[in-house]
Amino acid sequence: MIRRVLLIVLALLLALGGLVWMFNFWGAPRIRDSAPRTPPSREQVARGAYLARVGDCMLCHTERGSAPYAGGRAIDTPFGTVYSSNLTPDAETGLGAWSAAHFRRALREGRSRDGRLLYPVFPYTHTTLVTDADADALFDFVRSLPPVNKPNREHRLRWPYNTQAALAVWRTLYFRPEKYVADAAQTPEWNRGAYLVRGLAHCGACHGARNALGGVRQAMDLSGGLIPMQNWYAPSLASPSEAGVADWSVQEIVQLLATGTSPRSAVLGPMAEVVLNSTQYIEADDLRAMAVYLKSLPPTASDTDPREVPVAPASLLDRGGKLYGDHCANCHGDRGQGVPGAYPALAGNRAVTLPSTENLVQVVLHGGFPPATRGNPRPYGMPPFATALSDAEVAAVITYLRASWNNKAAPVNELTVGRQRSSTRE
Ligand code: HEC
Ligand code: HEC
Ligand code: HEC
Repeated sequence: MIRRVLLIVLALLLALGGLVWMFNFWGAPRIRDSAPRTPPSREQVARGAYLARVGDCMLCHTERGSAPYAGGRAIDTPFGTVYSSNLTPDAETGLGAWSAAHFRRALREGRSRDGRLLYPVFPYTHTTLVTDADADALFDFVRSLPPVNKPNREHRLRWPYNTQAALAVWRTLYFRPEKYVADAAQTPEWNRGAYLVRGLAHCGACHGARNALGGVRQAMDLSGGLIPMQNWYAPSLASPSEAGVADWSVQEIVQLLATGTSPRSAVLGPMAEVVLNSTQYIEADDLRAMAVYLKSLPPTASDTDPREVPVAPASLLDRGGKLYGDHCANCHGDRGQGVPGAYPALAGNRAVTLPSTENLVQVVLHGGFPPATRGNPRPYGMPPFATALSDAEVAAVITYLRASWNNKAAPVNELTVGRQRSSTRE
């Protein structure tokens, strides 16, 4: 009965979506401009190459082992697999026939050259804030690349997510093209930081809360979220007990984004990739502006209510303590104090006491390296423990970290570890 009602509601929504889409499609003014005939200037190409670093365009638009920016990288979502597009200026399979106006519209409105609605895996919910001048520089950069003939792959999404109608409904609910409006009460530096963090650098694409349909509340939302399909949690950039930096110095924040480490922590997993491919290349002035903006984010409510933390059974802590001594203390120290410049401290480390334990399980199972950057060219790594430790042992050692040396966070159970181990793809 409930299923039938749901199906009827779904059918109605899709019918509505079809209408919305038709209006949308017809409503999208045809862009008749043709591809520019003159090659871009060297300054524009350099400017665009820099902006492409800030926007981390290469990461998604390059398939491993294939030409840069030629697309075809598979990105898994809860609704199926989406493939990135060929951005090289190949006339047949890439952006060779695009005009600057088509490219601006793709970034600002999430539409392809023919008006087709694009999937928000492409973070146009954020790049919508990009100025025309920056969009044009990015366009000049991509059209300076060597053309690669590589047809775009068809997405593999389940019904109804593979329809333009569903996408039209999604966009009606979660997306509105926006321009960056400078806040006159703030400094130009703050505004530059806000423009980059919310817009081109799309920090909120991971750090924003998402609902079950993959909707982000708004480009400004940085209140933390699980990254779909990856079992990584991107902590809140507004909360001082998660990844908020209100009480860090500008210098420490710049150091973290430029080198991947700071006296307070080291970046992990997807954030290590962001530093490796993007933020380490951001100019010092822009990094400072981003730091100033991040420091100003108002703290979220959860930080003001003290949390009741359940106490772990003594036997579990005992077992965890022994495992810690055998496998971890060598690097992280007897009292979790770490070794400055080499191994992060685990005592007083927010990454250890986060309410979400996904990242801890990831690090212990799969190990990791902070990114190799100019400021930290040969980082020390952490070995993976996926084969050395059972689910129960991983749960015990993590529970121990979370309850020792003044750390106060809830225990982790074996089932949580097991579930994550079996659902994480390498
Ligand atoms: C998180 C991954 C991701 C990032 C980062 C990303 N893109 Fe994309 N992009 C995609 C995917 C996936 C598509 C295909 C969407 C579709 O077909 O519906 C796409 C599509 C596009 C398109 C439309 C191409 C076409 O043929 O319709 C353009 C233009 C584009 N991206 C430019 C950029 C630029 C410029 C940047 C950097 C500022 C960027 N993208 C960053 C994933 C990404
Ligand atoms: C691809 C997803 C992704 C994007 C994009 C992303 N982050 Fe993160 N970020 C994460 C994850 C996951 C973590 C948690 C792991 C960790 O602590 O490094 C994290 C952690 C952080 C931390 C805390 C690091 C620490 O060691 O305390 C800061 C600060 C941060 N991100 C800032 C940013 C900023 C600024 C941007 C935009 C330039 C950004 N992130 C973009 C995924 C992302
Ligand atoms: C060979 C030295 C070494 C050993 C042994 C080791 N680690 Fe690590 N650990 C590291 C390094 C280096 C990092 C930073 C990794 C990164 O940033 O990707 C790290 C990171 C971590 C983090 C994340 C800290 C943060 O700031 O994000 C946790 C948690 C952790 N280790 C727990 C453990 C546990 C538990 C064990 C034992 C089961 C262990 N480590 C064994 C070197 C080690």
